[in-house]
Amino acid sequence: MASLTVRQIDDALKQQLRLRAARHGRSVEDEVRTILREAAGDTETPPTAGSTPAPVEKPAAAKRVLLIIGGGIAAYKSLDLIRRLKERGLTVRCILTKAAEEFVTPLSAGAITGERVFTDLFDPAHEFDVGHIRLAREAELIVVAPATADLMAKMANGLAGDLATAVLLATKAQILLAPAMNPAMWANRATQRNLAQLIADGVATIGPNEGEMAESGERGFGRMAEPLEIAAGVERILKLRDAPKPLKGKRVLVTAGPTHEPIDPVRYIANRSSGKQGYAIAIAAAGAGADVVLVSGPVNLPRPQGVTVVDVESARDMLEAVERALPADVAIFAAAVADWRVANAGAQKIKKQAGKTTPDLALTENPDILSTIAHRASGRPGLVIGFAAETENVLANAKAKLAKKGCDWILANDVSPETGIMGGDRNTIQLVTASGVEAWPPQSKEDVAATLIAHIAAALNGEQN
Ligand code: CTP
Repeated sequence: MASLTVRQIDDALKQQLRLRAARHGRSVEDEVRTILREAAGDTETPPTAGSTPAPVEKPAAAKRVLLIIGGGIAAYKSLDLIRRLKERGLTVRCILTKAAEEFVTPLSAGAITGERVFTDLFDPAHEFDVGHIRLAREAELIVVAPATADLMAKMANGLAGDLATAVLLATKAQILLAPAMNPAMWANRATQRNLAQLIADGVATIGPNEGEMAESGERGFGRMAEPLEIAAGVERILKLRDAPKPLKGKRVLVTAGPTHEPIDPVRYIANRSSGKQGYAIAIAAAGAGADVVLVSGPVNLPRPQGVTVVDVESARDMLEAVERALPADVAIFAAAVADWRVANAGAQKIKKQAGKTTPDLALTENPDILSTIAHRASGRPGLVIGFAAETENVLANAKAKLAKKGCDWILANDVSPETGIMGGDRNTIQLVTASGVEAWPPQSKEDVAATLIAHIAAALNGEQN
């Protein structure tokens, strides 16, 4: 059968085709296909091997995900990912990088997506038909899987030399990366630097997982997340994006984590707080549309997306950062601030001295950040919320704290070691307010955060009515 590409058609005919396609709201290629089908007297011709599959009609509400497949061995899993996304009712368009074509073919990706696969930035047929700007604009979410070290480096530096990177630079949609590479490449400082930059730019990531690599005998962090995990991540992001935003336009300040109080330049006093509860609250507040500042003590947690994080060490640093972050509509004090610091902290490392057994460390009280903010005469956030970490008489102590610290709500929890709350993933809260006590069921720290944000939204909206 004769083969003809749009490029081979003369300019006048091309122009006529463009006008006709625009009139029918079709791409030029689809218009040509329609004309050929009509001429052949068949409107239902299935795609033949070697041809580009005809686009499948989608329900108007189908969300459009653009999948960029990078050039790595994990690319074979991306075909399964397309299936998983389609199972969830999503429309999937696909771009293959040049390197990806070494691992999967446009034909196989096109057969599964049911759409044309895009590969070339400078393909005039595609540019006047769909074009990289339209690809960027029409995606509700862009997934890069596998995201190679090379693609991540290009993205972090704003390069746009091929179709994939040009689309990534042109899009306003959320981007989700599923990195996959050799563990040494993943651990390399350059990759980690690029990753940090991408996260700071608001790019979401999933994986890589730990495990066996394609190279025999190699294992470590570098395996692409499984297609089901990525599909679940996509669903989560789209759900969050479409969720109501009851805190839109509100500024929320959260403190989290422990503080480190120096003994000398190399030693410090700390506590067992993981920061998980405060981080979960900051994430939930951002998900509810708030503008969130998270003042964080030293923790070992990934930086939450869409949240401004201010890193601090000591209680005094934390107070300073909190005051700088004001004004706020809501302030939530989830940090386990050290009550005392060493008054005579050494400027140099304290040395063992013959004849002298132990150094004398004098403690002095730290500022109470929650109380300071709650008692501000001006610029006090409208809603000030504290935690009460107790090991006995939980409710009585929490009620006393509410009054003493001058806050509006206290989330009381029992942090006795047997509860596993400090550093653990679950929490059991009693919400203490001026109007009484509400016991929440034992739940994950994420669910505690969601419950708290729902209460805050209700309180703020009640205030506004
Ligand atoms: N808090 C604070 N600054 C401090 C100490 C505590 O902002 N220097 C805040 C915590 O973030 C929490 C609340 O105060 O929201 C209660 O903290 P908690 O550790 O339960 O109580 P303390 O005030 O430290 O009192 P105590 O240790 O005597 O129970």
